[in-house]
Amino acid sequence: MSSPFAGKRVILGITGGIAAYKVADWVRALVGEGAVVTVVMTKAAAQFVTPLTFAALSGQPVAGDLFAAAGAETIPHIKLARDCDLLVIAPATANTVARLAHGLADDLLAAVVLATRAQVAVFPAMNSQMLAHPATQDNLARLAALGYLVVEPGCGPLACGAEGPGRLPDWPAARTWLAAALTEQDLAGQVLLVTAGPTQEPLDPVRFLSNRSTGKMGYALAQAARQRGARVILVSGPSALPPPVGVELLRVRTALEMREAVLAHYQAASAIVMSAAVSDFRPQAAAGHKLKKSAPGAELLELVANPDILKELGERKGADPLPLLVGFAAESDRHLEEGRRKLAAKNLNLLVVNDIRRPDAGFAADTNQVTILAQGAEPEVLPLLSKEETAHRLLDRLRRLW
Ligand code: CTP
Repeated sequence: MSSPFAGKRVILGITGGIAAYKVADWVRALVGEGAVVTVVMTKAAAQFVTPLTFAALSGQPVAGDLFAAAGAETIPHIKLARDCDLLVIAPATANTVARLAHGLADDLLAAVVLATRAQVAVFPAMNSQMLAHPATQDNLARLAALGYLVVEPGCGPLACGAEGPGRLPDWPAARTWLAAALTEQDLAGQVLLVTAGPTQEPLDPVRFLSNRSTGKMGYALAQAARQRGARVILVSGPSALPPPVGVELLRVRTALEMREAVLAHYQAASAIVMSAAVSDFRPQAAAGHKLKKSAPGAELLELVANPDILKELGERKGADPLPLLVGFAAESDRHLEEGRRKLAAKNLNLLVVNDIRRPDAGFAADTNQVTILAQGAEPEVLPLLSKEETAHRLLDRLRRLW
């Protein structure tokens, strides 16, 4: 699956809030992903950022005037409304939210909103008090009831000096909402439980045993499934990655904590994808104090086995075909044989193997080259793809099994 924005005609409606400058980044990113972006600015927006900025970034003239006829035969708001796959309003001020909630058509942007059949996504951004005002809250509820996607603003320091809800999200978060708006919701109704990242097994308060997993593959899976409409529960070991938007994130540290979180939620899931690199062993006891190198036997580590979470799920699986169980295996030798062995031993529906000798696949890489194994089926060898694309291909496979 290529970018959900490739070839899409996106109208970006900018209204008069200080966050208007942030949207310059969105335009760049959208154009970078192959979207054709037309910017429509309200009069107030042009007080904050010049239309020239957006014309340069989008490579298209900026529209703003309801009565500017580009050619005698075109009516600007109708043409814009027709040639549009997604209409985004960001930042949406309290005033514009109010105008749209009441169906006003008093400028070009409001008229396009009324005239289009495309999905409309509204990103309110304003001072927290204005946002919390019952009039604004009523208006936002009304927009949601009209079928617009109303994206909840972020929380944090605001331009007015206050701190609280009202911030325009940064592009990565906004991208998730917009990508979902353009993607077929073919996984709606499914619940995916994904594990990601490494586990850390403490030796003492400052040291632990762990591995090189970064969580990228699991986070990409969580994000991709969410984008396609699934409910996603992400059980993550320690990872530096930003939490995926719209996903229920449960942070854990050790294999034992991961097992507990997975067992608490597995019954709700229609598939469990264990992409986490779970430590097979843990130190027999974690010291309560920092271990000294001079202590007798300090050079020896006594380890005990961690439970195999996936194997346990495989054993619990009775006649019920759900949840589907998917394992990951990073192998450096005889990867297909090892994969087949794990597929059978853990009673899995699918096992995704990668050959970690490749520098462009596996830990920390942004790309992956995997082979999907299933009982009684030929291996499906995927090409070298981004982790996001690999995630979508695996979800396609799950969808066929569901
Ligand atoms: N796994 C698990 N619990 C463990 C170890 C692994 O749930 N304690 C899961 C992993 O998340 C992965 C799959 O089992 O989806 C295979 O993991 P891997 O480490 O490759 O398998 P092991 O059974 O540990 O095999 P080996 O050490 O022999 O390679």
